[in-house]
Amino acid sequence: RLLTQDELKKIAAYKAVEFVESGMVLGLGTGSTAKYAVDRIGELLRQGKLNNIIGIPTSKKTHEQAVSLGIPLSDLDSHPFLDLAIDGADEVDPYLNLVKGRGGSLLREKMVEGACKKFVVIVDESKLVKHVGASGLAIPVEIVPFCWKFTAQRLQALFEDADIGDLKAASDAILRLAGVVEHGMFLDMATTVIVAGELGITVKNK
Ligand code: A5P
Repeated sequence: RLLTQDELKKIAAYKAVEFVESGMVLGLGTGSTAKYAVDRIGELLRQGKLNNIIGIPTSKKTHEQAVSLGIPLSDLDSHPFLDLAIDGADEVDPYLNLVKGRGGSLLREKMVEGACKKFVVIVDESKLVKHVGASGLAIPVEIVPFCWKFTAQRLQALFEDADIGDLKAASDAILRLAGVVEHGMFLDMATTVIVAGELGITVKNK
């Protein structure tokens, strides 16, 4: 029998949690894959196999999940240096650049994951792409509500020929637009990507 996508997500998540050690300050990701990792951390805490963990959640949803599991939580103000974060992604390119945010969360993820010594990304193999943006799906951009249509038009005008080109240049151009809060390209941030596929698990390191 072929494994379902959910089973693959869970396999990747459990593998990532093997990197977690007692005493760590941990970034807790958001989305259907990261959810399995947070569940697993809660389970290991309950079993006494992990202790002294402090979680920094990347969304309200993950915050609620972690609270329900009894994972002690804090924030970046109190814990500005994290040991490790585990999170999913929508796309992963061969250089471990990511697209994130299609599940609705990206700003808090980028803040937390940018403050981590190690950032482990967990995906099933359907998330692998040759180039960021090559899937043809939009790259999420978070903008302020004030005159959002104006900002959306400005954003569209930046990429009229549809080719995203150099990722760093595209990132800089998006962030230069007033009204933009953050975008979903996570460039040069992941230190490890764990890919679960039908043929097994692959661990890619930066
Ligand atoms: C949250 O909005 C996103 O950045 C997710 O981490 C990403 O979309 C992956 O989500 P899934 O694991 O649900 O595919």
